[in-house]
Amino acid sequence: MAPRKDTLFEAVLAPLFQHFLIDQDALMAYYRSKDWDEEGDRLQNSTLAYPDYYQSQNFHGIERGYLNPQSAITYDAVTQYFLPPNEVWVRQALLNGIRSQPRRILDLGCGTGSTTVMLQQAFPEAEVIGLDLSPYMLVAAEDKAAALHLPIQWLHGNAEAVPLPNGSVDLVTAVLLFHETPVAIAQAILREAFRVLQPGGEVLILDGNQAALRKTVWLTNIFEEPYIQDYAAGSIDAWMGATGFGDIMTETVWLVHQLTRGLKPLTSHVKPVAIPTVVTDMGWAPG
Ligand SMILES: C[S@@+](CC[C@H](N)C(=O)[O-])C[C@H]1O[C@@H](n2cnc3c(N)ncnc32)[C@H](O)[C@@H]1O
Repeated sequence: MAPRKDTLFEAVLAPLFQHFLIDQDALMAYYRSKDWDEEGDRLQNSTLAYPDYYQSQNFHGIERGYLNPQSAITYDAVTQYFLPPNEVWVRQALLNGIRSQPRRILDLGCGTGSTTVMLQQAFPEAEVIGLDLSPYMLVAAEDKAAALHLPIQWLHGNAEAVPLPNGSVDLVTAVLLFHETPVAIAQAILREAFRVLQPGGEVLILDGNQAALRKTVWLTNIFEEPYIQDYAAGSIDAWMGATGFGDIMTETVWLVHQLTRGLKPLTSHVKPVAIPTVVTDMGWAPG
């Protein structure tokens, strides 16, 4: 077998982060503070089957990706450097985009709950639910909410099949989720968001700026993001339109991120139109 070629992330950036930018002692202390297997089992929905795209790939240079407690332990420490110019400002852009006063909020692919806690703080009366496929990310999310005394519910589940009834939520959010899923899964998640939203409900998706990512393939190659180039070639606007959402609008957030908002129409006679999911004039060199 040919020797494994390290990505630039593993060869250069990961050591840089480990040695200079991340407080490793604090991470080790957090790691040792609990039995991660036991805690993961506590939050785990044992009937859940992990989709292939999720369990077959490494993400960000971590073997088994989010199904490895290492991901949950290091996620916040690393992510702060990948949401320029400032993680809180970028997440705040999603909150600024909310037009309603939601009473029940569902944050899909909530990870360690960084946006979920901001949603609960902004809407203290609302019932806020964070859903994620990784029980370990949920363990870290639970710790974050407990430290802030926030009553968020954490659900171990798949955003393609949310265990909530039709029309039971009035705001669905997803932050940094779609660049990590194949395009067909992102589209399935949007259909599920449409189903659980009540008529008039809002969906808000914050993620990498697709147009900008098309021009920076060299950068996306670095970070072991198996699906990001297909994400970049597509259009969340188009996917939302095809799902049946109306009033769709995408705005650029700090150049490299984008926020897309859509509304579930009050009357659901809107016939979803089939829109191609891949942009043909990509303006970037093949990866
Ligand atoms: C890059 S992280 C983003 C986490 C968080 N939303 C944030 O803004 O920091 C992507 C998250 O999506 C989760 N995920 C991926 N596919 C999912 C799916 N089908 N259903 C639920 N969560 C999923 C992963 O477990 C991971 O926690």
